Amino acid sequence: MKAIQFHEAGGPEVLRYEEVPMPEIGPGEVLVRVHAAGINPPDWYLREGMKVMPAELRPTLEYPLTPGTDMSGVVRAVAPDVTAFAVGDEVFGMLRFPGFDGRTYAEYVAAPASDLAPKPAGVDHVRAAGAPMAVLTAWQYLVERGHEVPSPFTGQLHRPVPITPGMTVLVNGAAGGVGHFAVQLAKWKGAHVIAVASGRHERFLRTLGADEFIDYTRTRAADVVCDVDLVIDTVGGPDSSRFLAVLKRGGTLLPVFFARYDPEETARLGVTVSTIQVRSHGPQLAEIGRLFDEGTLRVGVDSTYPLPEAGSAHARAAQGHIQGKIVLTVVP
Ligand SMILES: NC(=O)c1ccc[n+]([C@@H]2O[C@H](COP(=O)([O-])OP(=O)(O)OC[C@H]3O[C@@H](n4cnc5c(N)ncnc54)[C@H](OP(=O)(O)O)[C@@H]3O)[C@@H](O)[C@H]2O)c1
Repeated sequence: MKAIQFHEAGGPEVLRYEEVPMPEIGPGEVLVRVHAAGINPPDWYLREGMKVMPAELRPTLEYPLTPGTDMSGVVRAVAPDVTAFAVGDEVFGMLRFPGFDGRTYAEYVAAPASDLAPKPAGVDHVRAAGAPMAVLTAWQYLVERGHEVPSPFTGQLHRPVPITPGMTVLVNGAAGGVGHFAVQLAKWKGAHVIAVASGRHERFLRTLGADEFIDYTRTRAADVVCDVDLVIDTVGGPDSSRFLAVLKRGGTLLPVFFARYDPEETARLGVTVSTIQVRSHGPQLAEIGRLFDEGTLRVGVDSTYPLPEAGSAHARAAQGHIQGKIVLTVVP
């Protein structure tokens, strides 16, 4: 079969479309014919040799590596101990995350059955492949943790703040993968949703349910917003603490990308900062799949690229300003 591999860390040009052995399934696994594979930031962090991580946390990588955690496809074989899925089932999932062996940029993948869910019938493979990591991240931050693993960055166990009707939720980086699902989940829970993104995403985000839109290239959120109950910030960066100012006392900031906050400042403001690392979770994805089926959630697709052009897809990602998800098509 064919897959994308890279033999050294580097830019998008290191991604090569090569002949590789068919994966073999072990206990608890199914073989999936991949129809589409979603692209996520950890894919390019891995391609760059994980230099995004502090040196002391950086893993040793063994090449060649096939990137990718997210995919949608059709089951071709099941291990004898797997009862949840059968040959011919359409499935989607985020495989073995956190980890570097999802290997979904490929024609076939060996997938842990516990990481998979039935693909929502009304959602095509491209959209289904775009969803798993981004929607599970928004879900585990906002709705249900689903596991008992503390954040590796803070050592703390994240506790989602129940979103109740009338609460105000601000989503920064609202048009991106995690952000556009956070907007929809907060809206589903009855929140008043403020979306922060660059101007061209306004229509997209209002269609997904944003009540207010702030173009961060023109307006600082802190200049026009206050008394927010919950901020989910998918952008981070050196000045991430600027969002502390929009929270009410008792409010919560959820940094999706690792960022440091001064504990004295958060204590003085009376706000909580909480973070989580997303983990694979088939049953949560099955529950989320029902929200896709009933039309409560939608997947925005920024762009698609055929599998052999994964390098071009990564080059697109490097330009930023992503609206929804970038997806690789494997079966045309
Ligand atoms: N904690 C976890 O387990 C976890 C899980 C998944 C992802 N992440 C991290 O979360 C981050 C977001 O992931 P993603 O998949 O959503 O990324 P993404 O799809 O690339 O989205 C990022 C979005 O941020 C917007 N943006 C960039 N600069 C901005 C700014 N200054 N203010 C407001 N918006 C800005 C971009 O568009 P515009 O600039 O055009 O608005 C883009 O839509 C990544 O750093 C990723 O590593 C963490």
